[in-house]
Amino acid sequence: MIKTKQINKSGELIHLISTEGIPKSIVLEILDRTSNFLNFGEKITIQNSPVLKGKTVFNIFFESSTRTSTTFEIAAKRLSADVINFNVPNSSAAKGESLLDTVDNLISMQANMFVIRHSQSGASALIANHINLVAPGINILNAGDGSHAHPTQALLDMYTIRHFKQDFSYLSVAIIGDIVNSRVARSDIHALSTLGVPDIRVIAPKTLLPPEVSKFGVKSFVNIEEGLSGVDVAIVLRLQRERMNSPSLPSSEEYNKLYGLTKERLVKCSPDVIVLHPGPMNRGIEIDSLVADSSHAVILKQVTFGIAVRMAVMEILNRASL
Ligand code: CP
Repeated sequence: MIKTKQINKSGELIHLISTEGIPKSIVLEILDRTSNFLNFGEKITIQNSPVLKGKTVFNIFFESSTRTSTTFEIAAKRLSADVINFNVPNSSAAKGESLLDTVDNLISMQANMFVIRHSQSGASALIANHINLVAPGINILNAGDGSHAHPTQALLDMYTIRHFKQDFSYLSVAIIGDIVNSRVARSDIHALSTLGVPDIRVIAPKTLLPPEVSKFGVKSFVNIEEGLSGVDVAIVLRLQRERMNSPSLPSSEEYNKLYGLTKERLVKCSPDVIVLHPGPMNRGIEIDSLVADSSHAVILKQVTFGIAVRMAVMEILNRASL
C-alpha cells in the first residue's frame, strides 16, 4: 500500500487519506467541530459558514457515488467554496490522460482541495504524495479508494455513534458482512480502536474475513447470533461484488439466510441497539426492510451528519494549509 503523510510537522492534518494513524485528539476535534455545524431541534439543520470563501474544491469521482459525492458538494457549498464536480466519463481521462496529468491540469486551475474516489486502493495517497512535491498547501480528501479506506464515512459513523451512545468506553460494536472487500470496515475499525471502544467484533463467513483480521484487535465470528449477542451498535455492510475476484458466496438468498440482519436476529443485540449502514443498502440481502425501517436504524441520520462531518474535516484541513 502506498504511504503518505497526513499530518505536518506542527501536528496539523494536511490530507485525510485513512483513519489509520490519525491521533485521537484530531478525531475528537473533528467530532466536536461537527457539532458546531449542526442544530438539533425537531429537525437537524446545518449551519452555513464562510471559511472556504474564495477557495475551489474539485470533486473527482472515478467510481459511482450517491451519498459521498453529494454530501461533499453540499458541505463545500455550505462553507462558501466554489465547487467543481469534475465529470470523469466526459473528461480527457477517457482519451488516455494519466491520473497525475489530470491532477496537474486541475492544480493549474487554482484548485485548493481535491476530493477523490477511485477503484484502486492507494490512488488518493499517490495523488497526495505528488501534491506534496509539486503543490504543497493543496489538501487531498480520500472519498474511498478500492478496499483500502473511506475515512469520512468512518468519521460520520463515529459521530453517529457518539450522538446516540455518548461514551465509546463501554461499547460493543459489531460490523457484519463483507469485511474483506470493505474500505468502510477497515476505516471504522481504526477509528473505533483510536476512540477506545473495548469490544469490536466482525461477523462474516470465512470467505469474507481478511486472513489477517486478528491483527486489527477485533474478535471475529462466523456465527451471526453469537456475534450479535449484547452489541450496542450493529454496522451492516453490503456485499461488494464489484471487488470480488472470484465467487465468495453461494447466492444472495443463501447469504440472507445465514447473515442477513433480520428482526429475529436483532433481538440478540442490546435492547437499545442502533443499526448503521454506509449505503447503498441491498434490502432482503444483508438487511431486511423490517430492520432498515425500524426505530433502531439511524441510517438516514448518518447521511445528514455526513454533511457536517465533511464540513468539519474541510475546515480543519483549510486551517492547516494557511
Ligand atoms: N457510503 C458511501 O460511500 O456511499 P456512496 O457510494 O453512495 O457514496
